[in-house]
Amino acid sequence: MAGRDQGSAEATSKHPVPPGFAGALVTPESYSAMYAASIADPDAFWGEQGKRIDWIKPYTRVKNTDFTFGQVSINWFEDGVLNVAANCTDRHLARRGSQTAIIWEPDDPKTPARHISYAELHENVCRMANVLKAHGAAKGDRVVLYLPMIPEAAYAMLACARIGAIHSVVFGGFSPDALANRVNDSEAKIVITADTAPRGGRRTPLKSNADAALLHCDDKVKCMVVKHTGDQTTWVDGRDIDILAEMRAASADCPAEPVNAEDPLFVLYTSGSTGKPKGVVHTSGGYLVYAAMTHQLTFDYKDGDIFWCTADVGWVTGHSYIVYGPLANGATTVMFEGVPTFPDAGRFWEVCAKHKVNQFYTAPTAIRALMGQGAEWVEKHDLSSLRVLGTVGEPINPEAWVWYDKHVGKGKCPIVDTWWQTETGGHLITPLPGATETKPGSATLPFFGIKPVVLNAESGVVQEGNPAEGVLCIADSWPGQMRTVWGDHQRFQETYFQQYKGYYFTGDGCRRDEDGYYWITGRVDDVINVSGHRMGTAEVESALVAHEKVAEAAVVGYPHEIKGQGIYAYVTLMNGVEPTEDLRKELVKWVRNEIGPIASPDLIQWAPGLPKTRSGKIMRRILRKIAENDFGALGDTSTLADPSVVDDLIGNRMNRA
Ligand code: WTA
Repeated sequence: MAGRDQGSAEATSKHPVPPGFAGALVTPESYSAMYAASIADPDAFWGEQGKRIDWIKPYTRVKNTDFTFGQVSINWFEDGVLNVAANCTDRHLARRGSQTAIIWEPDDPKTPARHISYAELHENVCRMANVLKAHGAAKGDRVVLYLPMIPEAAYAMLACARIGAIHSVVFGGFSPDALANRVNDSEAKIVITADTAPRGGRRTPLKSNADAALLHCDDKVKCMVVKHTGDQTTWVDGRDIDILAEMRAASADCPAEPVNAEDPLFVLYTSGSTGKPKGVVHTSGGYLVYAAMTHQLTFDYKDGDIFWCTADVGWVTGHSYIVYGPLANGATTVMFEGVPTFPDAGRFWEVCAKHKVNQFYTAPTAIRALMGQGAEWVEKHDLSSLRVLGTVGEPINPEAWVWYDKHVGKGKCPIVDTWWQTETGGHLITPLPGATETKPGSATLPFFGIKPVVLNAESGVVQEGNPAEGVLCIADSWPGQMRTVWGDHQRFQETYFQQYKGYYFTGDGCRRDEDGYYWITGRVDDVINVSGHRMGTAEVESALVAHEKVAEAAVVGYPHEIKGQGIYAYVTLMNGVEPTEDLRKELVKWVRNEIGPIASPDLIQWAPGLPKTRSGKIMRRILRKIAENDFGALGDTSTLADPSVVDDLIGNRMNRA
């Protein structure tokens, strides 16, 4: 989306830090000095930053990292010992035991919000940790969480961390199949779920999804159930556990297990350009330091502020900026169960006013959707508490940026457009509210310790000077970086370190303008970004071809007004199968069942043939162009085995916008 309006004056004009924004933690001067220091001497810089958190045994070695393909190894604070949950609860008890840690805002605004203090959080985490232990969970074991946006999701993450178990949160919108794959790949011992998950007035049957998933998993996997809505579910005696009942009976005392800085904290599955989703592994020490630091500085978080990140804990944004970053900082973090448009399009703003939110962090897709409903929904609510606005997940188009600035921020709130990834653990390129002049659509400048480089995509040559354009790589490690792919270090190296030797390859394209500002132009691989959710086109394709009537499928992204990118599927049916409207609907439903609603194709085109080279490789470049309705410049089609298929595809294209 960023590409669209780049030429306009609005997009290139600089927005200074709003004059009333005073007392920021980082100023233009301190940013420059601190950034220079972080690059000049990473050991000294991070050695100091590591002290943000409490260590049971302090580290003596800060950075030990190697990006060399074949021997990639990333270690931070490697001889330090800590406990992440103790950092997010115990260490705040003395000073802020009665301060609210989590404000829980339910889906239905008529249900009262809950305020959970640090003391209560600590107690709940300890009780849940004891329940996990009682059922055999120990250090290093995997526990899958498949939960609504309820405080128990945070308790469960921290309960795992408390005993050194490794959590893997699976987004509640994923299907039973997707859940089963993740339980099996991580070889989890326990799944924690809830009866049902209310969202936007509807309920997702999480427990029955888990039941369906567990049919495909080891019999020994236990299922702990949070009775949240009280909706009726099936119950398997001997396997299913009423976790809230057991928590009430459990001891509120649970010692925090000392773990090594490099022991895994969590695995989070994310889509790549090929194959099945991969388990991104984050470890304990470096991740926590980086999440805490970015949370504090990117949002200019100060004691007493109310911070709201609208993401789901099923995504990395929820991990780092609902749970770990804020709680490590002793912050008050808002956890919202619902959706932006329920019961009406004013919900976000009503919640901001109700809880006097100071920092608000959401996705461009939500802003675009709300923008379409009209500014009157915003104007109804008192947003005077807001100080900083943030966006994440995809490039923000300048039009949405300007609307956000004007109607939500009233021109007084800096906007931080934070670029990062599941793999990076925290923000890598982002404005800092009191330090960075912004340009709508640009993620601006690197965070401390981050060395972005722009490489020519084909030659891999580093593009020096400004402006520059190419693929975005990072030249050196930072503490929040993923360490490996769960169970497959080779895949980790091949995905991120093989193509451009010596660098971490992000998979994103970018432009660096004359001021050195970074503009992310989107993925350069076969990953698409649908409403800020990452989706591998290969995953949708394999779901489609699993249908008995489908012979072949190719999936690409296309520009979508609200979602950023929509899913466009070219489908070749089995011989003799009639292409009907009903079949189209059936295939959409099929993909929803196979992966989840976020993977639903927006457009399906019947393709008698796909454009392939003589060696049988599908030419996606051509399919992307046709899906973008930009078929005038298809480039060279002479290498195709059968060039005539292209005319058919153009003639029957689905996106004529
Ligand atoms: C995209 C989400 C432009 C990008 C935290 C990246 C962005 C992918 C931005 C990671 C942004 C994320 N501007 N693009 N501010 N933030 N992206 O792993 O393509 O779900 O590679 O992490 O989202 O998505 P993921």
